[in-house]
Amino acid sequence: MGRKLRVCVLGATGMVGQIYLQMLADHPWFEVSAVTGNTTVGKKLVEAYAGKGDVPRKYWDLEVLPSDPAKVDADLVFSCLPTKAARELEHKFAEAGFPVVSDASANRYHEDVPLIVPEINPEHLDAIEVQRRRRKWDGFIVTTPNCTTTAFVMPLKPLLDEFGLRHVNVVTMQAVSGAGYNGVPSMAILGNVIPYIPGEEEKVELEPRKILGSFEDGGFRPAEVPIDATCTRVPTLVGHLAALTVTLSREAKLEEVAEALEDFRGLPQQLELPTAPPRPIELRREEDRPQPRLDAGSNDRSGMVVHVGRLRKGSSERTVKFVSLTNNLVRGAAGIAILTAELLKATGRLG
Ligand SMILES: NC(=O)c1ccc[n+]([C@@H]2O[C@H](COP(=O)([O-])OP(=O)(O)OC[C@H]3O[C@@H](n4cnc5c(N)ncnc54)[C@H](OP(=O)(O)O)[C@@H]3O)[C@@H](O)[C@H]2O)c1
Repeated sequence: MGRKLRVCVLGATGMVGQIYLQMLADHPWFEVSAVTGNTTVGKKLVEAYAGKGDVPRKYWDLEVLPSDPAKVDADLVFSCLPTKAARELEHKFAEAGFPVVSDASANRYHEDVPLIVPEINPEHLDAIEVQRRRRKWDGFIVTTPNCTTTAFVMPLKPLLDEFGLRHVNVVTMQAVSGAGYNGVPSMAILGNVIPYIPGEEEKVELEPRKILGSFEDGGFRPAEVPIDATCTRVPTLVGHLAALTVTLSREAKLEEVAEALEDFRGLPQQLELPTAPPRPIELRREEDRPQPRLDAGSNDRSGMVVHVGRLRKGSSERTVKFVSLTNNLVRGAAGIAILTAELLKATGRLG
């Protein structure tokens, strides 16, 4: 593959940033050349992380830089900035010629910005050319979904392709790490469930339609799948669990549905990309799995697997019910962005 590409992580000192550093420490194609932050600018990474995280030893002495394109030397930028900072800064990096792969919501919904789950919609990367032409940028922005969308959109893809989707109802049980390091006060969440996460249901009802839709004639056409979501925060650390009731467009036997889920593979599996799990969906047959503590996986390819379980019939012949579990920090953030960057590289989009 030639020399490794130098990558910069914007917002490297947060919850998601540390997962990037762990996942990139031995990456065969990418090496971290720069990290940025806000309140920790000027510190060494080991000091920036003191008391709140774990960073691989090889990065301890990296200095946290301001998030300024002029200060960064890299071939590719990963952004895990908060929304407001991402809105201001990601454009500046793309304008300055950097390819940007972002976990932030700031640019996800623009009509020329791809929202990518590499196994589902790799062809949406064609929007990059439209974006560059329209905005006259040398670089570009590609986004990944909200970590809760990734908790359940993967199993919807084979169901859409095989049976059609008439309606999706989803109730989420989201881990505290999904809100960032300072996100949810411990006094609010310990021994409790919070049945409201600001802005989350809107994202979760919108994003799967863009991801499952098509990119044709220079524009996105969302999939016509109505989704009703209720999002809750629960006192787990890592792993967003979603309970789904899905009405298919045609009747299907439970075994057919199980087969569609188990057989699903995408382009990352065909290309054997370094961060692609051999099977993106693991169908659990035990009656009490998946569980966040047991099945969310680690900060490596194991955390990239979406675990589906409790598959059963609903109240009609067309209705199926199941739960879906995703590691929000890996498949839901750093890992999906790294896999997207691998796809960009493997398809010749990183120069
Ligand atoms: N947590 C998840 O599961 C998850 C999943 C998917 C997507 N996301 C998205 O990923 C992003 C980061 O989430 P997180 O959970 O890692 O948040 P976090 O723990 O709060 O970390 C935020 C990071 O951004 C930096 N930062 C804050 N304000 C900045 C500014 N004005 N300019 C430059 N850098 C700034 C912080 O630097 P300092 O430490 O130096 O202040 C820190 O490195 C968010 O957009 C979030 O929505 C999170």
